[in-house]
Amino acid sequence: MAVLDVVTFPHPVLKQKCSEVLRFDAELHAFLDDMAATMNEADGIGLAANQVGVTQRIFLMDVPTNRGSGEKEVKTTGRIEVVNPKIVSMRGELKYEEGCLSFPGMSEFVMRAAEVDLEYQDRTGAVQKVAARGLVAVCIQHELDHLDGITFVDRLSPFKRKIAMREYLRQNRELIDDQAMREKQKARRAQQNVG
Ligand code: CO
Repeated sequence: MAVLDVVTFPHPVLKQKCSEVLRFDAELHAFLDDMAATMNEADGIGLAANQVGVTQRIFLMDVPTNRGSGEKEVKTTGRIEVVNPKIVSMRGELKYEEGCLSFPGMSEFVMRAAEVDLEYQDRTGAVQKVAARGLVAVCIQHELDHLDGITFVDRLSPFKRKIAMREYLRQNRELIDDQAMREKQKARRAQQNVG
């Protein structure tokens, strides 16, 4: 298992719409294992494939189910590997303060559906269904948005987005410059390999 690099905004892959997974093979399984190691290392509750540069419809989640209940031991859903997800129904409204591994340091309140019914495929390709509410429902909507090239910042009002982005860019200038530099070097190497 390898820990992969998580890209941060404004990396263009975060704007890409991901494509359906067609093969449920060893390559997929290895990638799912790498995503799990990466999510674990980053201490995230969800991770979408394009956040590690792979534009396929895959996300992982492992969401606390007793957050805020005052209990010391955090209970979670356990790791759920979600391939080709579809939200088949949604109900109610819930405002939750979200963060994102691709926006270090940022957290903003976003309005989501309070309950969702999700259909997806597991790593074997078998169809699974889950009825989620609360933070699990929020996480599903956040991650599914990623696969459509939408980030939680896109869910803010234009005014709030402007303020949040200004603060994010101020706080992460160095990180953003480093990433841009790495991408440029990668592109240059790729070019040299072709030539
Ligand atoms: Co995110």
